[in-house]
Amino acid sequence: MARLPQAFLDDLLDRLDIVEVIDRRVKLKKAGKNYSACCPFHDEKTPSFSVNPERQFYYCFGCGAGGNAIGFVMDYERLDFREAVEGLAQTVGLEVPKDDPRGGREPPKDQNKPLYEALDRASKFYELALRQHAERHKVVNYLKGRGLTGEIARDFRIGFAPAGWDNLMQTSGGDDASQDLLMRSGMLVKNDKGRTYDRFRERVMFPIQDQRGRVIAFGGRVLGDDKPKYLNSPETPVFQKSRELYGLWQARKHPRRLERIVVVEGYMDVIALAQHGIPYAVATLGTSTSETHLERLFRIVPEVVFCFDGDDAGRKAAFRGLEATLPAMQDGRQAKFLFLPEGEDPDTVVRAKGKAFLENLFDHADPLETFLFKHLAEGLDLESMDGRARFSKLAAPHLHRLPEGVFKTLMYQALAEKTGIDVDSLKRLQPPPAPRPEPGALAPASTPDGPPPTDPEEPPPEDVMPIEEPMVESLSPSSLNPIHRLLGLLVLKPTLVKHIPEALLATEGSRDAVLLSELVIHIRRHPEVTTAALLGFWFGTPEGDFLNALAGRETVEEDAGLEALCSALVEKLNRHPALDAARQQFEILKRKPYQELTAEEKQQLLSLTQKIRALSGKS
Ligand code: UTP
Ligand code: MN
Repeated sequence: MARLPQAFLDDLLDRLDIVEVIDRRVKLKKAGKNYSACCPFHDEKTPSFSVNPERQFYYCFGCGAGGNAIGFVMDYERLDFREAVEGLAQTVGLEVPKDDPRGGREPPKDQNKPLYEALDRASKFYELALRQHAERHKVVNYLKGRGLTGEIARDFRIGFAPAGWDNLMQTSGGDDASQDLLMRSGMLVKNDKGRTYDRFRERVMFPIQDQRGRVIAFGGRVLGDDKPKYLNSPETPVFQKSRELYGLWQARKHPRRLERIVVVEGYMDVIALAQHGIPYAVATLGTSTSETHLERLFRIVPEVVFCFDGDDAGRKAAFRGLEATLPAMQDGRQAKFLFLPEGEDPDTVVRAKGKAFLENLFDHADPLETFLFKHLAEGLDLESMDGRARFSKLAAPHLHRLPEGVFKTLMYQALAEKTGIDVDSLKRLQPPPAPRPEPGALAPASTPDGPPPTDPEEPPPEDVMPIEEPMVESLSPSSLNPIHRLLGLLVLKPTLVKHIPEALLATEGSRDAVLLSELVIHIRRHPEVTTAALLGFWFGTPEGDFLNALAGRETVEEDAGLEALCSALVEKLNRHPALDAARQQFEILKRKPYQELTAEEKQQLLSLTQKIRALSGKS
C-alpha cells in the first residue's frame, strides 16, 4: 500500500491549482468567483459542475461528484491514488518520496534545486560564523541576553552575518554563475551603479524554512537599535510570503502531537515561546495572515489562536486575520483571538510570566464570534434601532462568508438575537457590492460561493448550497457522539474494523453515517492500511479534515479495552434511532438549495439542528 508522508501531500496540494488541473482536461468558464463546466462525470446539457479556486475544491450539483485535485484526476483518468499523485507531482516538479524499492523510476528534476542548495549553503555559512567568527561574541551575548540557549539556536538554525560587503559572495566562489544564483535567491542586492553586494550584513540571521524544512529565505535583525530593525529576503521562485509561516517546520517536527497553533507577529516571539516550552507558534512574514495560511494551519490542527498586540495596529491585523479565517471555519475548527497589553509581545510575556500563564491566556482567548461581534459593535449603540440596523449590515456579510454548517447557523442565530432581525432577513443582506461586470459583458453574474446560474437571463439565486458537503455536527471536546468516536478510533487503529457490524453500514442517511461506511469499506479493501494512508486518502477534503480532528481526540495507548469500547459504541448507536432519524431529515433538507426551502422547512432545519445537538449529548 502506498504510504505517502503528510508533509509531502501538503506540499503537493499547495503547489497545485485545481483550476489549472481541471481546465487542462475539461474546459472551464469563469462564473463569478468560481469556474463552471458541463460535468464530465454525468450526462448534462447545462453546466452544474463548479470549481472553487479559493477552497481548491470541485463539486457537481447534478451528480454530487466532488473532491480535490488529486481526487479529480483519479476519477477522470481512472487512476489509483498513487498514480494520480505521481502524475500531478511531476507537473509541479515535486519528487514523490520513494517507499517501494522496486519502483526504480527516475524522479523528475526539481528546477529550483540549485536555489535551495545556495540558500542552504548561505545558512550554513551564517551558522558557522555564529560559532567561529572573531566577532561572534557580540551575537552570542545578544542571544543570551534574550534568554536563548544554544540548543534553541541550533533548532532554528540561527546564524550571524558578519560585517562586510561581500562575505557571502566570497565564500560562494565569487564567479558569475554562483553570483547569479545568489542574486536569484535574494541574497544579493544590486545598487543604482550596478554594484553588487551582500543583502545581509552585521545581523542575527533567522532562516525561514518551508514545510519540508528547506531554507527558502532569511530574516536578519540588527544587534542594536539601528533601522530597519529587520531585513527580510524579497520574494523569489521559492519564497512567497503569503504562503509561508515562520516556525511551522519546527512546530510540525516536534514529537508531541499538535493540538493548536498560535499565530504571532515576530521571529523572536516564535523562538522565545519554543524556548519556554511552547513549541507551537508560527509567525507571518511581515504580511497579514492569508487564507492560504489559514487553510494550511487548519489542515494540521483544529484550533488556531491569534496572538497580537493590544494596540490599534494589532487589532487591525487581528481583524484581517479573522477575515482570512472565515471561509475556513468548517464545523470542528476553532479560531481564537488574544490581545496582549500594549507594549508587550509573546516574547516579553513568556519571559516574565512563564509558559503556564501564557497557555492559560490562550485557553481563555476570545473565540472568533466574540471578537467579530465586539469589533463590529465598537462605536455603535445597540440599544438604538439605528445602531442595530448598522450592526447587522456590518456583520451579515462576514457571516455570509462562513462555510455552510452548524457554526454558521448558530452565528446567524446569535446575530438575530443581538439585533432582533430574523435569520432570513439577515441572510438576505448581501456582501458589499462586488465590482459590476462591464456593460455588455457576457459572463453571467453569480453569487460568491455558488454555482453559476444555468440561464444567463435568470437572476442569480440569492443563496445556494456550498461547494463542500458540510459536516453535520460541530466538534466540541465534550462531544460523545458514538459515530464520531468510531470514526476517530478506526482511523487510529484500522484493525478495529472487524467490530463494526454490517447492519451499521449505510449508503444514505447522515453524512457521518455515510462516512463511517466509506471508511469501513475502504479499510476492508485495504486490510494493511495505516493511519497515515487513510488520512492521505481523504487528505484535503472536508472529510479528511474531519477525520483528522476526530482521530486527534482519541488516544490509543494500549489495546486493552478498545474492542469493548468499540462494541459499546456500536450498541449505543443502535439505541439512538431518534437521533438518526433527525440527522437523516436534516441532511435531506440541507441538500435543497436554500431559496427553494419554504419558511416552514427553514424553521424545521433550525429545530432539527437543536434536536441533534440535544440528542447527541451537547447543550
Ligand atoms: P516587531 O517590531 O514587533 O519586532 O516586528 P519583534 O518581533 O518584537 O522584534 P524584537 O523582539 O525587537 O527582536 C514584528 C515582525 O515584523 C517584521 C518582522 O517579521 C518582525 O518579526 N518587521 C519588523 C520587519 O520585517 N521589519 C522591521 O523593521 C520590523
Ligand atoms: Mn519583541
